[in-house]
Amino acid sequence: MGLLSREKIKAPIVEALKKAIKNPTYQFHIPGHTKGNGVYSKFKNLIGEKALLLDTTDEFDGLGTLNPATGPIKKAQELAAEAFGAKQTFFLLNGSTIGNIAIAMGLSRKGQKVIVNRNCHRSVMTGLIASGADPVWIIPEKFSDWGLWGNIKPQDIEKALQENDNVAFVWITNPTYEGVVSNVKEISEICKKYNTPLVVDEAHGCLWNFDEHLPQTSLELGADIVVHSLHKTGGSMSQSSMLHIGKNSTIEPKHIENALMLLHTTSPSLTLLASLDAARAHLDSKRGQKQIQQAIENAKYLRKKIDNLPNIHQLKHDGDYETDITKIFIKADGISGKVLESILEYDFHIEIESASDVGLLILSNIGNSHKDFEYLAKCLKKISKKDYSHIPKNVKQLHMPMLTPEIKMNLQEAFYSDKEIVKKEDAINRISGEIIAECPPGIAILVPGELIKEEHLPYLESYETIEVLK
Ligand SMILES: Cc1ncc(COP(=O)(O)O)c(C=O)c1O
Repeated sequence: MGLLSREKIKAPIVEALKKAIKNPTYQFHIPGHTKGNGVYSKFKNLIGEKALLLDTTDEFDGLGTLNPATGPIKKAQELAAEAFGAKQTFFLLNGSTIGNIAIAMGLSRKGQKVIVNRNCHRSVMTGLIASGADPVWIIPEKFSDWGLWGNIKPQDIEKALQENDNVAFVWITNPTYEGVVSNVKEISEICKKYNTPLVVDEAHGCLWNFDEHLPQTSLELGADIVVHSLHKTGGSMSQSSMLHIGKNSTIEPKHIENALMLLHTTSPSLTLLASLDAARAHLDSKRGQKQIQQAIENAKYLRKKIDNLPNIHQLKHDGDYETDITKIFIKADGISGKVLESILEYDFHIEIESASDVGLLILSNIGNSHKDFEYLAKCLKKISKKDYSHIPKNVKQLHMPMLTPEIKMNLQEAFYSDKEIVKKEDAINRISGEIIAECPPGIAILVPGELIKEEHLPYLESYETIEVLK
């Protein structure tokens, strides 16, 4: 990791921004609010003068550019590559979403196939619509008792590689949103055997390189490209993510850079870029690593407490799969996850990451204190002692789409076909023209080109109409 060598190095974008606001210039350029002077005063008071002073874009004040990366931004990307164990790192605005779209556009095209797990994030589907490649779906294990998708079986990847020609790359999501970890080592070896690049959407695993008690990173295990949502668990600001190219990858970084150039804003927020730089510096510092250890300890503490509650259960690792300890998925006997979420929110002022018809997800974050977890454990204990059987289970809307898709048409062709909007009930046996995916976790119920069936309806409770092909 080279922590000692990098500890002396500051965060270049943070430093450059600091310098820029210390030496203000007469500004005749964007952003037009001009250091906050042209801003609605109530908003200014809310956000703070300094935040607006820092709100600038690239090219000005020696801050470098994002596309292509120059100056402090380039330097910050290089430091990030070193910290995450990559050959090259790209900073992403618009989240890992833009990373996924750039990967599909940069590495695949119409006529090619991409082997991909069906429970991928909707941005993967967006990427495939943009590139025109056909997905070859991998259906991971289903943890039916938990209403969750599980691990991807390496043998399924191998089978898909054996059965399909013209595969541009293999694309897996690891971990799942709820922290289920697949055997990436074996998947990576299989991909190498078939000379096919491996891309890993590791959006939820950006802390892994910084603590040995967390799962091994896909970059370490030989992935060619890895995407990290630093803003999710790594401490950067919302929307900011990173895309890494593996050290031994033969993928030409220019393919990704060119796609990002097409997709990125031409006015990147220096505040967001600085927050990525700062997050890397923090995770790579002693204090940051202490906070990761604390997050792990807090998770262990909560898990131990939950083990003592007879009617609340937690998803744990198993012989077939690992889990990321900091993502704690629980369910309570007789109460749906949504109801448990409401009890926590309204009775105890606790907000958790997400809830489904079955359970809910708690994140142990680097910013949480041990006290937070003591309070949460105490509340769960109180809940476990109370009788909530009078509350309806509220399971009308199923949360996690776990269907096997019936593809009728290429995603891109379907997306660009003539379409009409029909009532949901009239959409049965028609072909979907849109991606329907609830966020979180953003896993598609339907994608363009897929046959709509009765079995989709329980997932579509909140939809009145659906866009279908004419
Ligand atoms: C697995 C996965 N990949 C990608 C994304 C998109 O990430 P972002 O919100 O950073 O655009 C998400 C978002 O939830 C996700 O769960």
